[in-house]
Amino acid sequence: MIKETDFLVIGSGIAGLSFALKVADYGKVILISKTTLYESNTKYAQGGIAAVTYEPDNYEKHIKDTLTASDGLCNKEIVEMVVREAPAQIKQLIDWGVNFDQNEKGKYDLGKEGGHSEYRVLHHKDNTGEEIQNSLVNRVKNHKNIEILENHFAVDLITQHHLGKLVKRSHGDTECYGAYVLDLKTDQVNTFLSKITIIATGGTGNLYDTTTNPKIATGDGIALVYRAKGIIENMEFIQFHPTSLYNPGKKPSFLITEALRGFGAILKTKAGKEFMHKYDKRESLAPRDIVARAIDHEMKMSGDDYVHLDCCHLNPEKLKDHFPNIYEKCLSLNIDITKDPIPVIPAAHYMCGGIKVDKNGYSTINRLYAIGEVSSTGLHGANRLASNSLSEAVVYADRAAKDVIKKIAHLEINNNIPEWDAHGTTYPEEMIMITQNYKEMQQIMSNYVGIVRSNLRLERALRRLEIIYTETEKLYEKSILSQKLCELRNLINVGFLIIKMAQNLHESRGLHYSIDYPKKGFVSEF
Ligand code: FAD
Ligand code: SIN
Repeated sequence: MIKETDFLVIGSGIAGLSFALKVADYGKVILISKTTLYESNTKYAQGGIAAVTYEPDNYEKHIKDTLTASDGLCNKEIVEMVVREAPAQIKQLIDWGVNFDQNEKGKYDLGKEGGHSEYRVLHHKDNTGEEIQNSLVNRVKNHKNIEILENHFAVDLITQHHLGKLVKRSHGDTECYGAYVLDLKTDQVNTFLSKITIIATGGTGNLYDTTTNPKIATGDGIALVYRAKGIIENMEFIQFHPTSLYNPGKKPSFLITEALRGFGAILKTKAGKEFMHKYDKRESLAPRDIVARAIDHEMKMSGDDYVHLDCCHLNPEKLKDHFPNIYEKCLSLNIDITKDPIPVIPAAHYMCGGIKVDKNGYSTINRLYAIGEVSSTGLHGANRLASNSLSEAVVYADRAAKDVIKKIAHLEINNNIPEWDAHGTTYPEEMIMITQNYKEMQQIMSNYVGIVRSNLRLERALRRLEIIYTETEKLYEKSILSQKLCELRNLINVGFLIIKMAQNLHESRGLHYSIDYPKKGFVSEF
């Protein structure tokens, strides 16, 4: 089957949904999502969305905090742009129906998180993401120009390569004509032709066996663009959130928001000793890379499986009122956070790098935009400041929409694209090949490419990943496609990019820490 549209939006998180709403009056939109419209990383966001709202906060302070967190690797021009444009896009979210908490005086109740020098995080209790996701989904469902296709999985982008032409990463003339999309209800791969394609597929957390990300976060967009010969960058900067609930075997790991530390909760060892003062003067509210590494170190020194986050000294009623979901979740595991410390461990949380884009979200492939977590805009550098990702997503959805609206009338759909060739493929005889390789891949990444890395660990990870890569490619060639197989293939691809980029960085910076190059500042081997 062939489908045609002006805008093909892949992904239904905050980035894809906001973009769809902004362009739908200018052309037909097809919005595809690989599970349901409601499932995304966005839905699980807790702390909130960072933007300057009231004095004494100001743009300069938010810019400075973002630059400091990034460990000197972000693009200052981009930081200034996002910080200044975020408040207007938050107003847009409010106009679309998103409710942020207000105090008794009718002013927005602002939270604080690691690395922020001011209270500037707008939130809805401790489930901000769900509030945003539901509001945007409601809006999208009611727009007549948006066709929603759930259970549709983007397999590959269509470029000149599919017309038999040579496509090279360095040429800069690659064009995207749409995507091959697997209908998960029929197992058919259909051809979606578009004037403009938008990748909004989110993060990569499932590369690791402990992650706060839901199952959908499998790096698909990054792998799609890499295979289509677009440029990917900064992949070595994986953000581990310092505090996910220690609950072995439970996936995804339940997040204990950093806003709780902003509210006064303190990190302690299992034996009840504070330790963050040894690592940073901002203590429990230092930027995430520092806190996650400190916890990792304390756990290795003590041999404990977790550390504690202690809220017992805080006002119990206010605690329950601000963090009702965390309170309930912990209580369901017999942890009363007003009386008991919460056991926490770091978990893979956010991909700072991704598809290289310009200030409008335009990728290095023509007719292709990437927005949200999947993109690398220059905002986060070597470490993202907490709650800056939701702001980045809405700012870039707006910028990409404004840019594309100017172009759309001059673009044609390419009708010469061949349909997907599934000749000679069959259903895999054994799913164990896929599930086992998925687990092995997660173990390789967790053991060798985690919070602390070394040359030896990275080499070992590469060698082991190569075996899984070869097996998976062979299986892919002869199989009728399934979501799990495609996701495994994509994750392996993304894992390679992370390892290769980590190997090329001969220094420790932000989220990338190597025992062999423990200092900041590039060290040349020669
Ligand atoms: P997502 O919201 O992840 O949406 C991606 C969409 O793409 C999904 O619909 C998915 O199904 C779809 N998709 C993926 N691959 C395919 C494919 N091959 N075909 C079709 N569809 C596909 N950030 C903050 O700023 N503040 C916070 O408080 C905060 N808290 C967080 C808490 C948690 C637990 C987590 C996991 C993240 C948090 N983050 C937070 C990060 C933030 O939520 C994400 O970075 C952001 O929501 C990403 O939005 P997105 O639209 O780019 O992607
Ligand atoms: C949190 O609430 O701690 C997560 C915030 C973020 O990832 O930006």
